[in-house]
Amino acid sequence: MPRGYFITFEGLDGSGKSTQISKLAAWMKTLLEGASALPERLEASRGIAPIVTRQPGGTATGDRIRALTLDSRSQGLAPMAEMALMFADRAQAIAEVIHPALDSGRIVLCDRFTDSTEAYQGGGRELGSAIVLDLHRLLCGNLQPDLTLLLLPPLEASLARARRRNDRVRAQTGRDEGRFELEQDAFHRRVWEMYREIALRHPARVVLIEGELNVDEVHARVVTAVSKLLGV
Ligand code: TYD
Repeated sequence: MPRGYFITFEGLDGSGKSTQISKLAAWMKTLLEGASALPERLEASRGIAPIVTRQPGGTATGDRIRALTLDSRSQGLAPMAEMALMFADRAQAIAEVIHPALDSGRIVLCDRFTDSTEAYQGGGRELGSAIVLDLHRLLCGNLQPDLTLLLLPPLEASLARARRRNDRVRAQTGRDEGRFELEQDAFHRRVWEMYREIALRHPARVVLIEGELNVDEVHARVVTAVSKLLGV
């Protein structure tokens, strides 16, 4: 059985990842339910929706790690501890969800992966890239996405959107996932710059979607990149 496809989405908080993942999942559902012939590597997914997951989270253990790391009441979490938690979450997700899905030929769409740790902990928290990449090799078997869609609208636009959304969610549900949004602009600028660096280092894997684009324009670029990967 050919291995399924592993596609990740990356970007700052408020970059529009979740909207784009839902739109791509819907596009894929239509593709996989269609009657036309599919390339061999996609046949195992015929009629089956892609698996959509996110990090941190996506498993029962991961959801607890998510609550711990994102709640703005988690004060004083040391950067190394924060990074270790992100990798604990990821190792669990790989074992429980991602590997089994890929081994059975399924498509996995994942909201954030190790590029997030490199951007936020490596860049934002200034732990550097080397330690993140070493841990990825040790704890995650160096699993690499087939394709990464990096949404990088201008920094100021993402920050404003993320803060508005976090205030709204907190007011409506009492849920608080704002610990990273509370960081200073300099932190987010370092995250943004590390993301660009990652894209330049991995031109074959990472498709950088930059600038002020509307939802449909971003979706069109996502579909172009994914169609090329899948050969459809
Ligand atoms: P996410 O749920 O994707 O937030 P949003 O929907 O606002 O983009 O991600 C949650 C936060 O976790 C985000 O601020 C980035 C942070 N994060 C890290 O710092 N390191 C990591 O390895 C991951 C996966 C996320």
